[in-house]
Amino acid sequence: MTDTGHLEQDLEALLQIENFPPPASFAEHARIHDRSVHEAAAADPVAWWAEQAKALDWFTEPTTALDDSNPPFYTWFKGGTLNASYNAVDRHVLAGNGDRVAFHWHGEEGEQRAVTYADLHRDVQRAANALKARGIGKGDVVGIFLPMIPEVVVAMLACARIGAPHNVVFGGFSAESVHERMEVSEAKALITVDSARRKGKTAPVKTTVDDVMGSLDTLETIFVVQHGGGDCPMQDGRDVFWGDALAAADDECEAEPLDAEHPLFILYSSGSTAKPKGIQHTTGGYLTGVAWTHKHVFDLRPEEDVYWCSADVGWITGHSYIVYGPLMNGTTSVMFEGAPDYPHKGIWWELCEQYGVTLFYTAPTAIRACMKWGADLPAQHDLSKLRLLGSVGEPINPKAWLWYHKVIGGERCPIVDTWWQTETGHIMITTLPGAQYGKPGSAGTPLPGVYAAIVDPDSGEEVPDGTQGLLTLTRPWPGMLRTLFGDDDRYVSTYWEKFGPQTYFVGDASKRDADDGYVWVIGRVDDVLNVSGHRMSTAEIESAIVSHGKVAESAVIGQTDEDTGQAVCAFVTLEGDLEGTPDLEAEIREHVAQRIGKLARPKRIVWADDLPKTRSGKIMRRLLKDIAEGRALGDVTTLRDPGVMQQLQGKIAEAQ
Ligand code: WT7
Repeated sequence: MTDTGHLEQDLEALLQIENFPPPASFAEHARIHDRSVHEAAAADPVAWWAEQAKALDWFTEPTTALDDSNPPFYTWFKGGTLNASYNAVDRHVLAGNGDRVAFHWHGEEGEQRAVTYADLHRDVQRAANALKARGIGKGDVVGIFLPMIPEVVVAMLACARIGAPHNVVFGGFSAESVHERMEVSEAKALITVDSARRKGKTAPVKTTVDDVMGSLDTLETIFVVQHGGGDCPMQDGRDVFWGDALAAADDECEAEPLDAEHPLFILYSSGSTAKPKGIQHTTGGYLTGVAWTHKHVFDLRPEEDVYWCSADVGWITGHSYIVYGPLMNGTTSVMFEGAPDYPHKGIWWELCEQYGVTLFYTAPTAIRACMKWGADLPAQHDLSKLRLLGSVGEPINPKAWLWYHKVIGGERCPIVDTWWQTETGHIMITTLPGAQYGKPGSAGTPLPGVYAAIVDPDSGEEVPDGTQGLLTLTRPWPGMLRTLFGDDDRYVSTYWEKFGPQTYFVGDASKRDADDGYVWVIGRVDDVLNVSGHRMSTAEIESAIVSHGKVAESAVIGQTDEDTGQAVCAFVTLEGDLEGTPDLEAEIREHVAQRIGKLARPKRIVWADDLPKTRSGKIMRRLLKDIAEGRALGDVTTLRDPGVMQQLQGKIAEAQ
């Protein structure tokens, strides 16, 4: 189909439609058809969640559902013991489903591996024994820095099996970021790879990790998965090949019964300061939340569906909706090593056809990229098995929603736009696809058991419907983060100080429709950027830029971008009389890649003689955003030197 003119017209016509009810063919077979589940939960949310916890296998049943005696330090399912890896793998094998494929892994060069639940069962036990053999036990943090290969799942579950919280770092982060995250979490071991493949190229990983990891005394072992090949130096006594360690290990390892509140993992995420936050999740509550939401938001039928979440395991989406949620439910998933445009821009649709994908979950930025590449690429593949589509990471613009609906979903698949955060652990606001209509651009309503309010930033009072305010969550939920690793104070001050210890401060602006209560999430209100659905901190990027020897000062803003939602734009003042040049620009970008990772590299650098500051010295990022996006300037009278803005406007005009 190359008739783009027609498609444009069709999309224009669809733009007039406000609500998209579930197609009859879908609703008929859906798990949930009406709002009765919302109502049942509303009658007693805590009891309702306790009911959902029964979907897990507990070694000891919990005695209390929610303990809210010490807010905001809530606990769930006290008295209960369980094990995440047992729930993810053993019980499916015990139920006779060992032969079911857990992951259809598809490599960059077209390699295929079908990993069954029985395979996971064997490998996870061996890996758990391999960890134990290196002195790792309950409570020890284990870092994981791996590409999208089945070993990453085995590694996570092996940690879970022995109660060692994992700390996964996204493969796109730099070795220096890995070092920082291992250091602050006092990781005892790191599981990484010899080299990683990306779009036909192989990048050394182990050597770059070695360059920075030498100084870390707490790190006793580095396990190396052999994957991409190439030079891989091994340090005697510290480094072990993962394959060798598993081969030497016994293949039986009992799953350790762990307290419901035992930390399952920490995952570092960017906040409004330069120091990433170690978001800590527990076992019982988190698993209850991901299991319920994965099953009901995606309307999962584990025996029939083939599910594919295109995220990377290194983000929370991967933790909750590639690993834990799907495995709790005995799902068959596709796992793809590569990029969406390699070996060609139609690879995703080729894989959907090849594996018969029925449920597909991706991010708006990816949908917009596919729109650019053209509707004729998906049209070359049979996507008729798809029956539900999901979106996550940032607000989805209606045009992308409609394209997804029409071109990928063939107008027969409901779209679930899922709002949540690393901190919330699982999906919080969305639509139950058989029971609620989709409304392009709005995520939907809080899920059963989830309570939200949109409040005035100053008074904390709820704002009238239709008015923008701050999104808050007003009741504890099982999958909520429990603290920031080793920093209870920061946990309290970041989330629970603004509106008190019973109201979770989300950090997003939003509004709600009067007629149906649908929530529109507008974007972050703090100094956090959202680039392609990835959370970045302005402060972290600024601090990386300033650590370059030639830079005096920097201010980073998120500039609205058609492709990536926001793009990193950095205003930079140089030392002394130095002049900004294209070479220096390239140097600074590379420097940021070294310090944080390629994903944080500024798309745009603006050389500035000075930055707009208030009299007290605070940089006015809002004004910089206005300038970068070509808007008329707001009030500049509070600036110490209003002339700075004229100079910057001149620079921008020159550059264009
Ligand atoms: C922030 C959380 C949740 C996994 C991926 C990102 C934004 C996320 C949506 C959505 C509008 C969304 C919010 C949120 N966000 N999903 N469906 N609609 N905004 O996790 O890195 O913790 O970022 O992403 O701003 O606060 P994260």
